[in-house]
Amino acid sequence: MKHLIDPTDLSLKEIDEILSLAEDIIQNRKKYSEVCKGKKLATLFYEPSTRTRLSFEAAMLELGGSVLGFSSADASSAAKGESVADTARTVSKYADIIAMRHPKEGAPLVASMYVDIPVINAGDGGHNHPTQTLTDLLTIKETKKRLDNLTVGFCGDLKFGRTVHSLIKQLSCYENMKFILISPPELQIPDYIKEETLLKKNIPFQEVCEMDTVINDLDILYMTRVQRERFFNEADYIRLKDTYILTLEKLENAKPDLKILHPLPRVNEIATEVDNDPRAVYFDQVEYGKFVRMALMLKLLGLDQTVE
Ligand code: NCD
Repeated sequence: MKHLIDPTDLSLKEIDEILSLAEDIIQNRKKYSEVCKGKKLATLFYEPSTRTRLSFEAAMLELGGSVLGFSSADASSAAKGESVADTARTVSKYADIIAMRHPKEGAPLVASMYVDIPVINAGDGGHNHPTQTLTDLLTIKETKKRLDNLTVGFCGDLKFGRTVHSLIKQLSCYENMKFILISPPELQIPDYIKEETLLKKNIPFQEVCEMDTVINDLDILYMTRVQRERFFNEADYIRLKDTYILTLEKLENAKPDLKILHPLPRVNEIATEVDNDPRAVYFDQVEYGKFVRMALMLKLLGLDQTVE
């Protein structure tokens, strides 16, 4: 049984196949409209979500399957004290594939140990978010036409931002990458990512506090929200939340072919005036997220080879 818990659960070859399949789905939507007929996706979301849950659901519906699930812990037996393992085991009797989001790191991994259907981690605490990574990879591939030889700036909450952790892990597998990590000292990337990924793989990286001095070097700028729900106190959040606000003025020195990504939701970190700049691709990214989840589910359900 193949699950997707950590981005490294997929080999580069498998990632490549998923991205190519997503590209084929984009080109030939009709061909895929009934591939998942009779299949059910369960979305078990113990934490708020708009894009991830709805894109999973839209993805399954567009493949001809159906969806069931819950969108908050309060609406499930978790509120009565049921364990993740028991809930997952129960749901596996009703569905063919599970997408789970949970505030606790490791919860989807636990679920995957108790069921005989694929489990997809749709975000576990401040840890990983592998399907956002697939979304980000497809967005980069489509807009830059390559996944190697890139200088990528990550900006904002690099400490708690799980999308950043997963994307750094994955991008580190491609050739000739360079990372510029832009954050206040309190929100720097965790040591384990530095040690287990960046230093171990000899990836050149730089940690800076200011965006202005590095923006002209970047091919990709990955903006993130300060993760309020993971802070221990509100005062720190308020002090740090508006550290970076990307405006058109700040983009004056940036490359004309820079691409600006954001996993969304945006709070204040990108001024809305940037939305119409051709370098802003975060709303395209939202749509790529649906196509890549269609491709991923087909692959995990073993249905990727059934379409001619
Ligand atoms: C992200 C998440 O949940 O980690 N959102 C998403 O899934 N697109 C980013 C965030 O919440 O800031």
